[in-house]
Amino acid sequence: MVAPPDPPMSLLLELTHRCPLQCPYCSNPLKLERAADELSTADWLSVLDQAAALGVLQVHFSGGEPMARADLPDLVRHAAKLGLYTNLITSAVLLNERTLGALAESGLDHVQISFQGSDAAGADRIGNYAGGHAKKLAAAALVRASGLALTLNFVVHRHNIARVPDMIAMGEAFGAGRIEIANVQYYGWGLLNRAALLPTRAALDECTDTVLSARARLRGRMLIDYVVPDYYAAEPKGCMGGWARRFINISPAGRALPCHAAETLPGFDWPDVRTHSLADIWYASEPFVRYRGTGWMPEPCRSCDRREQDWGGCRCQAFALTGDASRTDPACHLSPDHAMMAEAAQAASAPAPPFAYRRIGQRGV
Ligand code: SF4
Ligand code: FES
Repeated sequence: MVAPPDPPMSLLLELTHRCPLQCPYCSNPLKLERAADELSTADWLSVLDQAAALGVLQVHFSGGEPMARADLPDLVRHAAKLGLYTNLITSAVLLNERTLGALAESGLDHVQISFQGSDAAGADRIGNYAGGHAKKLAAAALVRASGLALTLNFVVHRHNIARVPDMIAMGEAFGAGRIEIANVQYYGWGLLNRAALLPTRAALDECTDTVLSARARLRGRMLIDYVVPDYYAAEPKGCMGGWARRFINISPAGRALPCHAAETLPGFDWPDVRTHSLADIWYASEPFVRYRGTGWMPEPCRSCDRREQDWGGCRCQAFALTGDASRTDPACHLSPDHAMMAEAAQAASAPAPPFAYRRIGQRGV
């Protein structure tokens, strides 16, 4: 008999898909939700109550840009009262003294600011938002001055990978406790723009050397999280810590998902948090159970020693590349589809095509 899973550790609320920026690597789905379809404040408050009762420890307020929701401070206050650790994942272009003050007063614990690069011209081009980088710098300074914990997140791709040393220097200058050097993951808009974004192997290797030596130099002062693109990996990442083992995502319209990209998978009837309890969704809903654990695995995963470490890799990537979500992630060198990764990586040596910027209503497929 299969043991019931542990309760989820983290809840990620995609409060809205609205966002002032248009980054071409966004992991949101191509069909973005409109404001009229978003959950109400009462719906989100109920989700938070149920999450705390279920045993969730952390809640991440994300989007789109979560600060586009006027009720964000009320949601943070409610989560803090329930004893949940609260993290805001933001582009920070709407963060100023007043809005940060309201969030700090509500009990916010942590702010993660995403940067599009280390220089204004390059960063503003990626986000397609003039003046965005300067706003982010001002917002990061405000967060530091407020005493809230701060993480700087840099999304890295072929257009900015050479500037990783400057990004690390920015983290040091801000006194951030943690930065993330996160190579683009190819889902949603990122997958659509893969040929424009994937760096070459040589550029990635140089970036890795830079990060490893900075990690050694900054040990005990600043933590550097580092995410590499699967396209150059021999082993897949244990995506989300395994399907429906630790995380629940809620889409702006209230669909509960085991990861941010799951809506790209066909053949699922995603449970709606307005009609299903979070406990039922976690423990008993068919989409959450389908790829949980190891029972669903094909060979070579089924008899592999790593099957309870990486859980067969990423279901969304397996589907995006092979058309079958139940196959071994092609990022794995043991996958019969592994050659696809090298074929895709060859595009990194060709001239970069223009970006398809993320826009609501542009890709309503
Ligand atoms: Fe992971 Fe499956 Fe590859 Fe083994 S065969 S390393 S379980 S993806
Ligand atoms: Fe969906 Fe990896 S992003 S399982």
